[in-house]
Amino acid sequence: MTESKRLFIAACLLASVVPAFAEKDTKEMDMFIGNLISRMTLHEKLGQLNLHPGEDIVTGNPQASNLGAIVAKGEAGGTFNIMGAEKTKALQKLALEKTRLGIPLIFGMDVIHGYQTVFPIPLGLSCSWDVAAVEKVARISAKEASAAGVCWTFSPMVDIARDPRWGRMAEGCGEDPCLGSAMAAAMVKGYQGDGMKGNDEIMACVKHFALYGAAEGGRDYNTVDMSRQSMYNYYFPPYKAAVDAGVGSVMTSFNTVDGIPATANRWLVTDVLRNQWGFDGFVVTDYESIYEMAKHGVGKGAKAASLALKAGTDMDMSSHAFLDHLETAVKEGKVTEADIDVAVRRVLEAKYKLGLFQDPYKYIDPEREKKELYTEENRKSAREIAAKTFVLLKNEGNVLPLQKKGKIALIGPMADNRRDICGTWSMMAVPSKYKSLLQGFRDAVGNSGEVVYAKGCNFHEDRKVDRWFSPYSASLKDERTEEELIAEAVEVAKDVDVIVAALGEGMQASGESASRCELTLPETQKRLLEALLATGKPVVMLNFSGRATVMDWESEHVPAIMNVWHGGSETGDAIADVVFGDVAPSGKLSVSMPRSVGQIPVYYNHLPLGRPAGNDWKGFQVFRSNYIDKDHRPLYPFGYGLSYTEFEYSDFNISSTELSDNGEIIATVTVTNKGDRKGDEIVQFYTRDLEASVSQPVKTLKHFERISLMPGESRKVSFHITPDDLKFYDYNLEYVAEPGEFLVMVGPDSERLSTLRFTLKE
Ligand code: NOJ
Repeated sequence: MTESKRLFIAACLLASVVPAFAEKDTKEMDMFIGNLISRMTLHEKLGQLNLHPGEDIVTGNPQASNLGAIVAKGEAGGTFNIMGAEKTKALQKLALEKTRLGIPLIFGMDVIHGYQTVFPIPLGLSCSWDVAAVEKVARISAKEASAAGVCWTFSPMVDIARDPRWGRMAEGCGEDPCLGSAMAAAMVKGYQGDGMKGNDEIMACVKHFALYGAAEGGRDYNTVDMSRQSMYNYYFPPYKAAVDAGVGSVMTSFNTVDGIPATANRWLVTDVLRNQWGFDGFVVTDYESIYEMAKHGVGKGAKAASLALKAGTDMDMSSHAFLDHLETAVKEGKVTEADIDVAVRRVLEAKYKLGLFQDPYKYIDPEREKKELYTEENRKSAREIAAKTFVLLKNEGNVLPLQKKGKIALIGPMADNRRDICGTWSMMAVPSKYKSLLQGFRDAVGNSGEVVYAKGCNFHEDRKVDRWFSPYSASLKDERTEEELIAEAVEVAKDVDVIVAALGEGMQASGESASRCELTLPETQKRLLEALLATGKPVVMLNFSGRATVMDWESEHVPAIMNVWHGGSETGDAIADVVFGDVAPSGKLSVSMPRSVGQIPVYYNHLPLGRPAGNDWKGFQVFRSNYIDKDHRPLYPFGYGLSYTEFEYSDFNISSTELSDNGEIIATVTVTNKGDRKGDEIVQFYTRDLEASVSQPVKTLKHFERISLMPGESRKVSFHITPDDLKFYDYNLEYVAEPGEFLVMVGPDSERLSTLRFTLKE
């Protein structure tokens, strides 16, 4: 019997007497892994630290490789973005049967907002403010992904983003640490389930650690330069929330932190992540991050690999640097084999926690794959959840909801486009299986009305840019001139009752490597919109986007605007549900919508100023913080969103105006549905520390609740305030609540707030 077989059987035997890992029997795990490591050569150890890219989905520089040969040589601990259980099965078989020790591979994938059932992009999901729904999204995603051989997802992405020029805003939860933290924890729970015991519970990987969302100029991969105050108070909390929720792995970011690439930043990866936050999983780099250290000008080859390893990074995605250089580094005394063992142990522990030593095929079952993807039940959830993410920004004269009768024109490049509606990271979607918006509308209206269609324009007037808005633009592109396209649309719309314009970004206009300087509608789309408005018909604009966009002009001229993000595979039905009033819109912005790119960054939780221009701004104020040529305030503030009904806030009070250091006060408000239809409201509580050792934001979201109210129904909503809720990281990065005066505010968004005052006592 070969060594690999012996070890494998020993592993199985051991595992069968080991209780489930969640029962925290780390002693057995330590023994097993210690024993395994003691049998490994240095080269085998480095193989475990190598995360080799799969070739199905390319998410960085394409790398020519023969994955099978690498696996068979024991030179990969895992691979990623391989499509389908048959393929993972074949690779796992190679790892088990061809390598000396038969250590199973780990299979990762960017399952960011669903697998074959695609949910809205994370930015959209965060606008639901529905924590339970987001946990469900992750749960369903894990079920589907695991049926297809994936046991590790590179999600949640929790980078706080205040700059919508950055296309990766689409992948995160917006600008706020409190909302972002709640979503981060929900996603980790959803993916990992009950401690990764079941074969549909996969390991999460929180990314990109850290600060990636603060790239200068919103340009992807650009420099980040930030104070520790901002890191700890605004940017770190969602990563920490994921760690607190038990996330199994962390991915480093491409950027530098304090001038040191995150991947090699020991302060970040070891001092903060492991020592301060107690993270005990493994750390993987982002794509070629070790290789890119040379480009950052901090060293290459053995030096870069050693710096990354010494920083506390365990697994090398796509650089091949650990495999190629750490043996030399050991010889040169840059690292020791004991340093390598630490990383190997963490990677093997992850495999152990996933149960892969017990059953390397736990997540690989082609039969499950045939049955469990894109089920009716999953699609129903995706449709319901998508409907919660749309944000109604304007609805003058109650244009919406539309009636399911008469003649409706659906116009625009997103109207009959199945491919783009899923948004970024939707490689597993099968467009032939789901509906376009046009189909969704036609199914909703049935025989009681007519929905007519024209494309109206391409995404962008510049062919080169158009190509980047959608990977399918070549096949989607209409070769007719802009004038011809617009003329056709106007003709189609001439005798309709209402026009719905489906405009905005294709799936590739946001996401990785999709930064934009101009955030307004491309000129060709704007000209189409102008022509549609000129017909004199009521116009509803649906804005598809993976970021906050600039809709200054539209907000003035278009009667109804709803931001629908990229809503996933069930978008067609979900938008129809809301547009035709079967479901009332309930999403609220998780990012401030700017009026102009020149205002960016614009975010609600800014610091108070010595010379503020104030919220009642009417025009330029000299020697104040504002602009000569434009309002400095966001067009639509954080937390904003309308419904088809009206909610009234009343009886806001607090149980006491004094809070002791171990006490609690309760802020309560009554919310009433004043309209004549059911609706969901997202009640938001904010606080402000009026005088602190370090200047504190004008408001900070602390608590929110999503409630459903029938017409006329009232509900009391409470926020239990303890000193913990008032803590911040002070100048010395101590987490403190400083006695003094505070405000507590409540309302439907970050602007329309009622305020009360209380004191935190010494
Ligand atoms: C690069 C991206 O930055 C990261 O988010 C992703 O997980 C990896 N590529 C793997 O595809």
